[in-house]
Amino acid sequence: MKLEGKVAIVTGGGQGIGEGIVRCLADDGADVAVVDLNGDTAAKVADEVKAMGRRSHAIQSDVTDSEQIDQAVQEIIDTFGQIDILVNDVGGGVRAKRPQARPPGTRQTFVDIDEDVWDRTFELNAKTQFLMCRAVVPHFLKQGSGKIVNIGSRLAVIPDPQLFTYCVTKAAVVHFTSLLATELAPHNINVNCVCPGDVLTPNIARMFERAIQNNPEAEGKTPADMFLDIAKPRIPMQRLQTPEDMGKATVFLVSEDARNITGQALYVDGGQVMG
Ligand SMILES: NC(=O)c1ccc[n+]([C@@H]2O[C@H](COP(=O)([O-])OP(=O)(O)OC[C@H]3O[C@@H](n4cnc5c(N)ncnc54)[C@H](O)[C@@H]3O)[C@@H](O)[C@H]2O)c1
Repeated sequence: MKLEGKVAIVTGGGQGIGEGIVRCLADDGADVAVVDLNGDTAAKVADEVKAMGRRSHAIQSDVTDSEQIDQAVQEIIDTFGQIDILVNDVGGGVRAKRPQARPPGTRQTFVDIDEDVWDRTFELNAKTQFLMCRAVVPHFLKQGSGKIVNIGSRLAVIPDPQLFTYCVTKAAVVHFTSLLATELAPHNINVNCVCPGDVLTPNIARMFERAIQNNPEAEGKTPADMFLDIAKPRIPMQRLQTPEDMGKATVFLVSEDARNITGQALYVDGGQVMG
Protein backbone atom coordinates (compact mmCIF):
# COMPACT_ATOMS: atom_id res chain seq x y z
CA MET A 1 0.00 0.00 0.00
CA LYS A 2 2.04 2.94 -1.30
CA LEU A 3 -0.66 5.57 -0.78
CA GLU A 4 -2.25 4.76 2.59
CA GLY A 5 -3.38 7.96 4.37
CA LYS A 6 -3.13 10.07 1.20
CA VAL A 7 -6.03 12.04 -0.28
CA ALA A 8 -6.26 12.34 -4.07
CA ILE A 9 -8.43 14.41 -6.41
CA VAL A 10 -9.10 13.00 -9.87
CA THR A 11 -10.84 15.31 -12.36
CA GLY A 12 -12.79 13.40 -15.00
CA GLY A 13 -12.77 10.44 -12.61
CA GLY A 14 -16.31 9.38 -13.54
CA GLN A 15 -15.39 7.57 -16.74
CA GLY A 16 -12.66 6.17 -18.95
CA ILE A 17 -9.01 6.77 -18.09
CA GLY A 18 -9.94 8.88 -15.04
CA GLU A 19 -12.05 6.04 -13.66
CA GLY A 20 -9.12 3.62 -14.10
CA ILE A 21 -6.82 6.05 -12.30
CA VAL A 22 -9.30 6.40 -9.39
CA ARG A 23 -9.43 2.60 -9.01
CA CYS A 24 -5.65 2.19 -9.03
CA LEU A 25 -5.13 5.00 -6.50
CA ALA A 26 -7.76 3.46 -4.19
CA ASP A 27 -6.28 0.00 -4.71
CA ASP A 28 -2.98 1.35 -3.38
CA GLY A 29 -4.64 2.84 -0.28
CA ALA A 30 -5.59 6.42 -1.25
CA ASP A 31 -8.88 8.11 -0.39
CA VAL A 32 -10.23 9.72 -3.56
CA ALA A 33 -12.39 12.71 -4.44
CA VAL A 34 -14.01 12.08 -7.83
CA VAL A 35 -14.67 15.40 -9.62
CA ASP A 36 -16.66 15.22 -12.84
CA LEU A 37 -19.16 17.16 -14.94
CA ASN A 38 -21.35 14.07 -14.77
CA GLY A 39 -22.50 13.77 -11.15
CA ASP A 40 -24.07 10.32 -11.67
CA THR A 41 -20.93 8.60 -12.98
CA ALA A 42 -18.82 10.38 -10.34
CA ALA A 43 -21.16 9.06 -7.61
CA LYS A 44 -21.03 5.51 -9.03
CA VAL A 45 -17.22 5.50 -9.07
CA ALA A 46 -17.09 7.02 -5.55
CA ASP A 47 -19.38 4.20 -4.32
CA GLU A 48 -16.99 1.64 -5.84
CA VAL A 49 -14.08 3.27 -3.99
CA LYS A 50 -16.04 3.10 -0.71
CA ALA A 51 -16.73 -0.59 -1.38
CA MET A 52 -12.93 -1.03 -1.55
CA GLY A 53 -12.74 0.25 2.05
CA ARG A 54 -11.46 3.77 1.24
CA ARG A 55 -13.06 7.13 1.83
CA SER A 56 -14.47 8.80 -1.27
CA HIS A 57 -16.52 11.83 -2.22
CA ALA A 58 -18.16 12.63 -5.56
CA ILE A 59 -18.43 16.23 -6.70
CA GLN A 60 -20.27 17.41 -9.78
CA SER A 61 -18.18 20.31 -11.10
CA ASP A 62 -17.19 21.91 -14.40
CA VAL A 63 -13.42 22.31 -14.17
CA THR A 64 -13.34 24.93 -16.93
CA ASP A 65 -14.92 27.30 -14.36
CA SER A 66 -12.68 28.71 -11.62
CA GLU A 67 -15.59 29.46 -9.24
CA GLN A 68 -16.84 25.86 -9.40
CA ILE A 69 -13.26 24.65 -8.90
CA ASP A 70 -12.75 26.80 -5.80
CA GLN A 71 -16.00 25.44 -4.32
CA ALA A 72 -15.01 21.85 -5.13
CA VAL A 73 -11.53 22.21 -3.60
CA GLN A 74 -13.00 23.76 -0.43
CA GLU A 75 -15.54 20.90 -0.21
CA ILE A 76 -12.69 18.37 -0.48
CA ILE A 77 -10.67 20.13 2.27
CA ASP A 78 -13.82 20.22 4.46
CA THR A 79 -14.46 16.51 3.84
CA PHE A 80 -10.94 15.04 4.10
CA GLY A 81 -8.94 17.78 5.88
CA GLN A 82 -6.07 17.56 3.38
CA ILE A 83 -5.12 17.07 -0.28
CA ASP A 84 -1.93 15.20 -1.21
CA ILE A 85 -2.41 14.27 -4.87
CA LEU A 86 -4.01 16.03 -7.85
CA VAL A 87 -4.64 14.17 -11.12
CA ASN A 88 -5.81 16.39 -13.99
CA ASP A 89 -7.47 13.91 -16.34
CA VAL A 90 -10.24 16.04 -17.95
CA GLY A 91 -9.58 16.56 -21.65
CA GLY A 92 -10.36 15.34 -25.12
CA GLY A 93 -11.32 16.42 -28.60
CA VAL A 94 -13.96 19.09 -29.23
CA ARG A 95 -16.53 19.06 -32.04
CA ALA A 96 -17.49 22.11 -34.12
CA LYS A 97 -20.94 23.52 -33.24
CA ARG A 98 -21.63 23.95 -36.96
CA PRO A 99 -19.44 21.44 -38.84
CA GLN A 100 -18.24 22.71 -42.23
CA ALA A 101 -19.49 20.84 -45.27
CA ARG A 102 -16.50 19.47 -47.22
CA PRO A 103 -16.55 17.59 -50.52
CA PRO A 104 -16.67 13.81 -49.83
CA GLY A 105 -13.24 12.22 -49.43
CA THR A 106 -11.45 15.50 -48.62
CA ARG A 107 -9.69 16.06 -45.32
CA GLN A 108 -9.56 19.03 -42.98
CA THR A 109 -6.65 21.38 -43.69
CA PHE A 110 -5.10 24.01 -41.43
CA VAL A 111 -7.19 26.87 -42.86
CA ASP A 112 -10.40 24.91 -42.10
CA ILE A 113 -9.76 25.01 -38.34
CA ASP A 114 -12.68 26.63 -36.56
CA GLU A 115 -11.77 29.43 -34.11
CA ASP A 116 -14.37 28.30 -31.56
CA VAL A 117 -13.06 24.71 -31.67
CA TRP A 118 -9.53 26.06 -31.14
CA ASP A 119 -10.64 28.04 -28.05
CA ARG A 120 -12.73 25.25 -26.53
CA THR A 121 -10.01 22.64 -27.10
CA PHE A 122 -7.51 24.83 -25.22
CA GLU A 123 -10.10 25.42 -22.51
CA LEU A 124 -10.78 21.70 -22.02
CA ASN A 125 -7.20 20.40 -22.23
CA ALA A 126 -4.98 23.23 -20.99
CA LYS A 127 -7.05 25.76 -19.03
CA THR A 128 -8.64 23.06 -16.84
CA GLN A 129 -5.18 21.93 -15.69
CA PHE A 130 -4.03 25.53 -15.06
CA LEU A 131 -7.15 26.34 -13.00
CA MET A 132 -7.03 23.11 -10.97
CA CYS A 133 -3.32 23.54 -10.18
CA ARG A 134 -3.83 27.21 -9.25
CA ALA A 135 -6.55 26.19 -6.78
CA VAL A 136 -4.69 23.24 -5.21
CA VAL A 137 -1.03 24.37 -5.17
CA PRO A 138 -1.54 26.84 -2.26
CA HIS A 139 -2.58 23.84 -0.09
CA PHE A 140 0.52 21.90 -1.20
CA LEU A 141 2.77 24.89 -0.43
CA LYS A 142 1.23 25.20 3.05
CA GLN A 143 1.79 21.51 3.86
CA GLY A 144 5.24 21.41 2.23
CA SER A 145 4.46 18.51 -0.11
CA GLY A 146 2.26 17.46 -3.01
CA LYS A 147 2.06 15.41 -6.19
CA ILE A 148 0.50 16.45 -9.47
CA VAL A 149 -0.06 14.26 -12.53
CA ASN A 150 -1.37 15.89 -15.71
CA ILE A 151 -2.81 13.66 -18.43
CA GLY A 152 -1.29 14.42 -21.83
CA SER A 153 -1.30 12.24 -24.94
CA ARG A 154 1.02 10.49 -27.37
CA LEU A 155 -0.14 13.29 -29.70
CA ALA A 156 1.86 15.83 -27.66
CA VAL A 157 4.85 14.77 -29.77
CA ILE A 158 3.32 12.80 -32.68
CA PRO A 159 1.79 15.28 -35.14
CA ASP A 160 -1.63 14.31 -36.54
CA PRO A 161 -2.91 17.09 -38.86
CA GLN A 162 -6.50 15.80 -38.54
CA LEU A 163 -6.29 16.49 -34.78
CA PHE A 164 -4.25 19.68 -35.17
CA THR A 165 -5.61 21.70 -32.25
CA TYR A 166 -5.76 18.71 -29.88
CA CYS A 167 -2.08 17.94 -30.61
CA VAL A 168 -1.08 21.55 -29.86
CA THR A 169 -2.99 21.57 -26.56
CA LYS A 170 -1.38 18.29 -25.45
CA ALA A 171 2.09 19.68 -26.28
CA ALA A 172 1.08 22.64 -24.08
CA VAL A 173 0.23 20.19 -21.26
CA VAL A 174 3.75 18.70 -21.43
CA HIS A 175 5.41 22.15 -21.34
CA PHE A 176 3.03 23.36 -18.60
CA THR A 177 4.11 20.29 -16.59
CA SER A 178 7.83 21.04 -16.88
CA LEU A 179 7.41 24.77 -16.13
CA LEU A 180 5.30 24.11 -13.04
CA ALA A 181 7.66 21.33 -11.92
CA THR A 182 10.61 23.74 -12.07
CA GLU A 183 8.83 26.35 -9.95
CA LEU A 184 7.51 23.87 -7.37
CA ALA A 185 10.54 21.56 -7.03
CA PRO A 186 12.12 23.50 -4.12
CA HIS A 187 8.81 23.10 -2.25
CA ASN A 188 8.86 19.27 -2.38
CA ILE A 189 6.06 19.19 -4.97
CA ASN A 190 6.41 16.78 -7.92
CA VAL A 191 4.67 17.56 -11.20
CA ASN A 192 4.64 14.95 -13.95
CA CYS A 193 2.64 13.99 -16.98
CA VAL A 194 1.25 10.62 -18.14
CA CYS A 195 0.78 10.48 -21.92
CA PRO A 196 -1.65 7.73 -22.98
CA GLY A 197 -1.52 5.97 -26.32
CA ASP A 198 -4.70 4.26 -27.63
CA VAL A 199 -7.15 3.48 -24.83
CA LEU A 200 -10.58 1.96 -25.45
CA THR A 201 -12.82 4.21 -23.33
CA PRO A 202 -16.67 4.23 -23.37
CA ASN A 203 -16.95 7.11 -25.88
CA ILE A 204 -14.51 5.46 -28.30
CA ALA A 205 -16.27 2.09 -27.84
CA ARG A 206 -19.63 3.73 -28.72
CA MET A 207 -18.09 5.24 -31.88
CA PHE A 208 -16.84 1.81 -33.01
CA GLU A 209 -20.20 0.17 -32.10
CA ARG A 210 -21.89 2.60 -34.54
CA ALA A 211 -19.25 1.84 -37.20
CA ILE A 212 -19.84 -1.91 -36.76
CA GLN A 213 -23.63 -1.47 -37.12
CA ASN A 214 -23.15 0.49 -40.37
CA ASN A 215 -20.64 -1.89 -41.92
CA PRO A 216 -21.75 -5.45 -42.84
CA GLU A 217 -18.08 -6.48 -43.27
CA ALA A 218 -17.49 -5.70 -39.59
CA GLU A 219 -20.09 -8.22 -38.41
CA GLY A 220 -18.81 -10.24 -35.45
CA LYS A 221 -16.13 -7.71 -34.57
CA THR A 222 -15.98 -5.96 -31.20
CA PRO A 223 -15.11 -2.27 -30.70
CA ALA A 224 -11.71 -3.44 -29.35
CA ASP A 225 -11.10 -5.45 -32.58
CA MET A 226 -12.01 -2.42 -34.73
CA PHE A 227 -9.83 -0.03 -32.70
CA LEU A 228 -6.86 -2.42 -32.79
CA ASP A 229 -7.25 -2.94 -36.58
CA ILE A 230 -6.71 0.82 -37.00
CA ALA A 231 -4.14 1.39 -34.27
CA LYS A 232 -1.98 -1.76 -34.52
CA PRO A 233 0.26 -0.54 -37.36
CA ARG A 234 1.43 2.37 -35.19
CA ILE A 235 1.83 0.44 -31.91
CA PRO A 236 5.16 -1.43 -31.64
CA MET A 237 3.76 -3.61 -28.82
CA GLN A 238 0.73 -4.49 -31.02
CA ARG A 239 -1.93 -4.05 -28.32
CA LEU A 240 -4.24 -1.33 -27.01
CA GLN A 241 -3.50 0.42 -23.73
CA THR A 242 -5.96 0.40 -20.81
CA PRO A 243 -7.19 2.88 -18.19
CA GLU A 244 -5.43 0.68 -15.60
CA ASP A 245 -2.10 1.12 -17.46
CA MET A 246 -2.52 4.87 -16.91
CA GLY A 247 -3.59 4.26 -13.29
CA LYS A 248 -0.50 2.19 -12.49
CA ALA A 249 1.84 4.78 -14.05
CA THR A 250 0.05 7.47 -12.03
CA VAL A 251 0.36 5.50 -8.77
CA PHE A 252 4.11 5.20 -9.36
CA LEU A 253 4.55 8.91 -10.10
CA VAL A 254 2.60 10.03 -7.00
CA SER A 255 4.32 7.52 -4.70
CA GLU A 256 7.51 8.09 -2.73
CA ASP A 257 9.23 5.67 -5.15
CA ALA A 258 9.19 8.58 -7.61
CA ARG A 259 10.15 11.30 -5.11
CA ASN A 260 13.07 12.43 -7.26
CA ILE A 261 11.17 12.36 -10.55
CA THR A 262 9.64 15.66 -11.63
CA GLY A 263 8.91 17.54 -14.85
CA GLN A 264 8.71 14.29 -16.84
CA ALA A 265 6.29 13.05 -19.49
CA LEU A 266 5.83 9.28 -19.25
CA TYR A 267 4.51 7.81 -22.52
CA VAL A 268 2.31 4.81 -21.76
CA ASP A 269 1.62 4.04 -25.40
CA GLY A 270 3.04 0.62 -26.28
CA GLY A 271 6.12 2.30 -27.78
CA GLN A 272 4.38 4.67 -30.22
CA VAL A 273 6.50 7.65 -29.19
CA MET A 274 9.54 5.90 -30.73
CA GLY A 275 7.98 6.56 -34.13
N1 LIG B 1 -8.85 7.55 -24.77
C1 LIG B 1 -7.68 7.68 -25.33
O1 LIG B 1 -7.27 6.87 -26.19
C2 LIG B 1 -6.77 8.83 -24.94
C3 LIG B 1 -5.51 8.89 -25.56
C4 LIG B 1 -4.64 9.90 -25.19
C5 LIG B 1 -5.00 10.83 -24.24
N2 LIG B 1 -6.24 10.76 -23.66
C6 LIG B 1 -6.55 11.77 -22.63
O2 LIG B 1 -6.96 11.11 -21.45
C7 LIG B 1 -7.91 11.92 -20.74
C8 LIG B 1 -9.18 11.12 -20.50
O3 LIG B 1 -9.65 10.63 -21.73
P1 LIG B 1 -10.88 9.62 -21.82
O4 LIG B 1 -10.81 9.03 -23.17
O5 LIG B 1 -10.90 8.76 -20.62
O6 LIG B 1 -12.09 10.67 -21.79
P2 LIG B 1 -13.66 10.44 -21.55
O7 LIG B 1 -14.34 11.44 -22.41
O8 LIG B 1 -14.03 9.01 -21.65
O9 LIG B 1 -13.84 10.88 -20.02
C9 LIG B 1 -13.62 12.20 -19.63
C10 LIG B 1 -14.34 12.45 -18.32
O10 LIG B 1 -14.18 13.86 -18.03
C11 LIG B 1 -15.44 14.43 -17.71
N3 LIG B 1 -15.43 15.86 -18.10
C12 LIG B 1 -15.44 16.34 -19.37
N4 LIG B 1 -15.44 17.69 -19.33
C13 LIG B 1 -15.41 18.05 -18.02
C14 LIG B 1 -15.39 19.29 -17.34
N5 LIG B 1 -15.40 20.44 -18.02
N6 LIG B 1 -15.37 19.29 -15.99
C15 LIG B 1 -15.37 18.11 -15.29
N7 LIG B 1 -15.38 16.91 -15.89
C16 LIG B 1 -15.41 16.87 -17.23
C17 LIG B 1 -16.47 13.61 -18.50
O11 LIG B 1 -17.76 13.72 -17.91
C18 LIG B 1 -15.87 12.21 -18.40
O12 LIG B 1 -16.29 11.54 -17.24
C19 LIG B 1 -8.12 13.16 -21.61
O13 LIG B 1 -7.27 14.19 -21.15
C20 LIG B 1 -7.70 12.69 -22.99
O14 LIG B 1 -7.28 13.76 -23.82
C21 LIG B 1 -7.13 9.78 -24.00
